[in-house]
Amino acid sequence: MILITGGAGFIGGNFVHHWFERAAKLGLAPEPVVVLDKLTYAGNPATIATHLKSGQATLVQADIADRDAVRAALATYQPRLVVHFAAESHVDRSISGPGEFIHTNMVGTFSLLEESRAYWSGLQGEAKAAFRFLHVSTDEVYGSLSSTDAAFSETTAYAPNSPYSASKAGSDHLVRAYHHTYGFPTLTTNCSNNYGPYHFPEKLIPLMILNALDGKPLPVYGDGLNIRDWLYVRDHCEAICQVLEKGTLGEVYNVGGINEIKNIDVVTTICRKLDELRPRADGSTYESLITYVTDRPGHDRRYAIDPTKIQRDIGWSPAETFESGINKTVAWYLQSTEWIDTVRSGAYRDWIAQNYADRSA
Ligand code: NAD
Ligand code: TYD
Repeated sequence: MILITGGAGFIGGNFVHHWFERAAKLGLAPEPVVVLDKLTYAGNPATIATHLKSGQATLVQADIADRDAVRAALATYQPRLVVHFAAESHVDRSISGPGEFIHTNMVGTFSLLEESRAYWSGLQGEAKAAFRFLHVSTDEVYGSLSSTDAAFSETTAYAPNSPYSASKAGSDHLVRAYHHTYGFPTLTTNCSNNYGPYHFPEKLIPLMILNALDGKPLPVYGDGLNIRDWLYVRDHCEAICQVLEKGTLGEVYNVGGINEIKNIDVVTTICRKLDELRPRADGSTYESLITYVTDRPGHDRRYAIDPTKIQRDIGWSPAETFESGINKTVAWYLQSTEWIDTVRSGAYRDWIAQNYADRSA
């Protein structure tokens, strides 16, 4: 049994799918999963419905900061691994309301570490030696690069710029300290921007796909020249599986897609793909919907990951190019209307209204 926090979210949900598909491919017996998730606006049981129905996955709805609930889940399910995805993850929301980010990313990670450490301390022999706590983090903890700076490595100094990245940096430091001080068996991965199926449509790629299909403006912040290093979500999930198997305890591994792309190029790529797959009724191009809007405050200019360590020590490399990954992603959104309807609730519409109302074109 493994315990996955945030397993009803974007990456955690993909990880649940990947976990079972990988076992099937390798001819291994499927190892059950327990998902501990608060089911915030970003958590959606529909993402993992097939595995919940089959009984391979169990959902415990709880806050990682609720120590009694975490303790009970660990005692009941006796996991051999904890994979920690649960977080508040959207930079724009952290700017308009940082409190939840401190609660979940820092206090929540602290609570999860304390309870997991107590659980691990009570294990014996092989079970104790095999236990792992893998903390999923972000490249945003390293701050912003100029166009000529070298990509982030595991030794780049932390310089978080948003309440989101500062709260993730705090959680990374706690994980590091728990290994150093208590010998708690941790692994940390810091990855670049993920994209793929089940991505909540407040983030750049799914927002642009869905706005385009609805004929709405495509809001590009600032000059559109900010750069992100795009990682297909299943490549990230595979990296996590390999770090769990081969990673050295206490170490950090940076996971990147080797795909540095300017935001405006991401958006035009999506537009061209949609022109091909779902041409607009009036014959105009999706690019005509692009609208430059007021920038994000403190907007980081460039992120880029140097994946040398994970390639060399673990043997992982991304399988998808941006072209192959975005083709899969756009095709998935075109087919997945039921999932899209379930996540575009009233709360989603309220956020979109709030975030874009004050951004003049
Ligand atoms: P997400 O926002 O899509 O999902 C987060 C999940 O965590 C949701 O299911 C939510 O219900 C759950 N959650 C939130 N607060 C909780 C709490 N207090 N207790 C229990 N569950 C809670 O996020 P994501 O994009 O899947 O990101 C997963 C992890 O990967 C996060 O730690 C994030 O910082 C990290 N990360 C994400 C990206 C990215 O591009 N999406 C990049 C780098 C790192
Ligand atoms: P996002 O998906 O929010 O991820 P992050 O901020 O964690 O990198 O944004 C990706 C990039 O896209 C970032 O530079 C901000 C930009 N962006 C827009 O230009 N318009 C938008 O509507 C959104 C949500 C993001």
